[in-house]
Amino acid sequence: MSNNRRAIIAGNWKMHKTTAETRVFLQSLLSELGPQPPEAEVVVCPPFTSLEAAREVIKGTFVQLGAQNMHWQSHGAFTGEISPGMLIELGVTHVILGHSERRQYFAERDEAVARKLEAALLAGLTPIVCVGETLEEREGGLTDNVVIVQVQRCLHGRTPEEVSRVVFAYEPIWAIGTGKTCDAAEANRVCGVLRDTIARMTDDHTAQTVRIQYGGSVKSDTIADQMAQANIDGALVGGASLEASSFATIARLGRPE
Ligand code: PGA
Repeated sequence: MSNNRRAIIAGNWKMHKTTAETRVFLQSLLSELGPQPPEAEVVVCPPFTSLEAAREVIKGTFVQLGAQNMHWQSHGAFTGEISPGMLIELGVTHVILGHSERRQYFAERDEAVARKLEAALLAGLTPIVCVGETLEEREGGLTDNVVIVQVQRCLHGRTPEEVSRVVFAYEPIWAIGTGKTCDAAEANRVCGVLRDTIARMTDDHTAQTVRIQYGGSVKSDTIADQMAQANIDGALVGGASLEASSFATIARLGRPE
């Protein structure tokens, strides 16, 4: 991690935890973390149904609230969808966009991610935009091409000022939920490819401002290695974010209390 970018650790709960479970979990996370704000920005992203409960528990603390998805329109006939304004009303500050599970199971494409990104920025939300290759693409030597095209399509039409507010998450799909973490040096290399792509689309200063997380089987014992890499500014954490003590360790970037 570079000194002038603040690390950001986000927990992606996926479809886990009811409102009751959310309250219990966040109380124990807050006691694990203690009152002192960690060096990293800490964000939890519960399911939509738990956002209100989460807000009540983390109110007045340094833990921030994120959503896992949203629609790009402000309102309308979009059954089952949630708008940026609805999230903001619940105290949400961050939103994960284009997660590979959304792309894989809900046919979400870069064009939709780009529209969501634009809407999130307009609403003042911090988007966490996920990109990453499949195992087949990696084995075919296509990793760099895949992530370059994803970044280009998602950032299409955005100004440098807008881009500077985006957080990217490099999440190799083969590393998600598999326990197979991407080698830290290789993850750093791909995050560097992302940063170069951002620089070509904007300018060097903007590219140096953008924070890039690594995601994919991040655990309390892998985070320190990952954070030691120059181009990795944090983590998007799935499985290990569901357990208070492991997520607290990751939020402290692997350092002891
Ligand atoms: P994982 O998930 O940490 O369980 O691999 C990461 C993610 O999907 O964001």
